[in-house]
Amino acid sequence: MIELVDSVDTGADRAAHLIARVLRAAPDATVGFATGATPLGLYRRLADDRRQGRVDWSCASAVALDEYVGLGPQHPDSFAAYLAQHVLDPLGIAADRADLLRGDATDLDAECARYEAALARTSVDVQIVGIGRNGHLAFNEPGSPFDGLTRVVELAPETRAANLPSLRSLEKTPARALTQGIGSILRARHLVLLAFGAAKSGALAAALDSPIDTACPASAVQLHPSLTVVADRAAAARLRTRVR
Ligand code: PGA
Repeated sequence: MIELVDSVDTGADRAAHLIARVLRAAPDATVGFATGATPLGLYRRLADDRRQGRVDWSCASAVALDEYVGLGPQHPDSFAAYLAQHVLDPLGIAADRADLLRGDATDLDAECARYEAALARTSVDVQIVGIGRNGHLAFNEPGSPFDGLTRVVELAPETRAANLPSLRSLEKTPARALTQGIGSILRARHLVLLAFGAAKSGALAAALDSPIDTACPASAVQLHPSLTVVADRAAAARLRTRVR
């Protein structure tokens, strides 16, 4: 289902409503949190809802989608730091209920295997995802297998440029990451895909309107039985179908 919204704020409200519904049905739900610019409005809204006592996160757990290789949770550019700042602290999710990928693990393959096993054990109730301009899903770049599991990947140059943390040079931006695979992501019970802005319109059309193809990793979401896409008009501008 595609929910077309007039503004990023309305999109954040819609997505927060969906997440709240999952939490109310299952207070001990496991929620998968994306990073990046797109979900920040959603995370502000979730924090507001918690402050106002509308949603109780005290029994919920959190998982991440991906992490840069080499960056530990203390590193300000790590996704662990992002999630602590925007999600875990504001929602009061304690460290022992947040299982994040360790980009500073000495054995990265073992860390990926650990994470995949943890995801399979936990079973993610709702996974929030964004979409890259090149159609990537988490850090599954074009060409990634749809049955792929958590693993170490090389980042596409355009992804490194898009995610360039402020004040850092491209040379210092990690070239590799750990990421949930598309197969891992598709196992979540519900998927909420957020896309805002004209820069995402081509990728969103390729993901939703074209035949599924590994050239557009996000097209794998068409395989998911419980998908909600929340998109603004700019991101949805090139969609032909299923917009309401
Ligand atoms: P963004 O990233 O939210 O910063 O645009 C989305 C993505 O690359 O998946």
